[in-house]
Amino acid sequence: MKKLGLYVHIPFCLQKCVYCDFLSSANGDATLYEDYVRALLSETAAKGPSYGDYTVDTVFIGGGTPSVLEGGQILRIMDNIREHFSVDEEAEITIEANPGTLTEQKLNDFGRACINRLSMGVQSFDDGLLRLIGRIHTAHEARESFLMARRAGFDNINLDLMFSIPGHTHEKWKETLDAAVALRPEHISLYSLQIEEGTPLFASFERGEFIPASDADDRSMYRTGLSTLQAAGYVQYEISNVALPGRESRHNLKYWSMDEYLSLGIGGHSFVNNTRFSNTTDIARYIADAGKTEAATFHVNSVRDNAGEFVFTGLRKTEGISLTEFARRIGVPFDEFYRTEEREIRKYTAGGFLELNGDRLRLTETGTDISNAVMSVFV
Ligand SMILES: C[S@@+](CC[C@H](N)C(=O)[O-])C[C@H]1O[C@@H](n2cnc3c(N)ncnc32)[C@H](O)[C@@H]1O
Ligand code: SF4
Repeated sequence: MKKLGLYVHIPFCLQKCVYCDFLSSANGDATLYEDYVRALLSETAAKGPSYGDYTVDTVFIGGGTPSVLEGGQILRIMDNIREHFSVDEEAEITIEANPGTLTEQKLNDFGRACINRLSMGVQSFDDGLLRLIGRIHTAHEARESFLMARRAGFDNINLDLMFSIPGHTHEKWKETLDAAVALRPEHISLYSLQIEEGTPLFASFERGEFIPASDADDRSMYRTGLSTLQAAGYVQYEISNVALPGRESRHNLKYWSMDEYLSLGIGGHSFVNNTRFSNTTDIARYIADAGKTEAATFHVNSVRDNAGEFVFTGLRKTEGISLTEFARRIGVPFDEFYRTEEREIRKYTAGGFLELNGDRLRLTETGTDISNAVMSVFV
């Protein structure tokens, strides 16, 4: 049986954070939530039969904030997935949660839905910064939610943290890192705050209300993040992700390894059978069509697409890419495929940005700082 990752998008939040341009809205009411869940159930039932030769070995319910839904709705979504797809008993099943939305009841319902991994957006353990970026919870509430999740039996928890927040100092960042380590989550994601066009943060930036972190400060906070977590026993396995040994996110690794995944719900991107396709981002249309809206985009990958994507996503992983695996997937040896780019590649290896070690090509620490420039050679 082939393996499949399933992503389920829940496009609702209680309140939009000032920096966030993810596909989610904060004006949802209970009726809209339920209509969306029903459309999702119907999309799942419609798509399941086409995946009869796949076993789902990871599920990721993301958003938005899936934990704004009732526990019962999450249970129905998971039961429905199990009814229409073959889900591996050992599957990694993650749900994203905002600490401000968790209750004991919900956590128990997630457990009953066999969800075995929780990914919590914490961002910071500094109340002033949390308020500034529009989070709905305090640092204390984030800690309480984490401990409540532990009591409910979750033994695989990720915390999302952000650095380069306006006004962020190294001291505050270090305090957040220490507070996170003290909770001992199995996994931590470290994100540099991006000022996305169209967000309130972007408008505030344009009005000159704050000076964003300099590149040097941003890099230095990133390094502090990694070294603090490494000293505490976490292992970096991707540019923005560290985990205790064996606790890497199996679902996210699929994106960086060009494995197959199917997304359900609005806006989701899929990669199946060498084809990339995505769902509509229009929730009204999605609900009206009971989740059966035609793909909004559809693209069959060429060999060059595949080569570029394999290297581009694979270099995000600390272990880099295997050249043998490249040749197996692409059908042409790496050196031969990238003959025209050979000089540029050599420039980056000689400069210490890329490292070729036996079968593996990877970014070095300094290469990570200019990863986009290095990776662009391959696409
Ligand atoms: C879908 S949210 C996680 C779950 C939940 N919605 C929450 O925020 O608590 C995904 C994560 O993306 C990160 N994120 C979102 N917008 C970002 C931005 N502009 N820059 C950096 N990280 C961002 C945040 O760390 C956030 O926790
Ligand atoms: S960061 Fe999370 S809670 Fe905040 S708006 Fe984005 S998806 Fe919603």
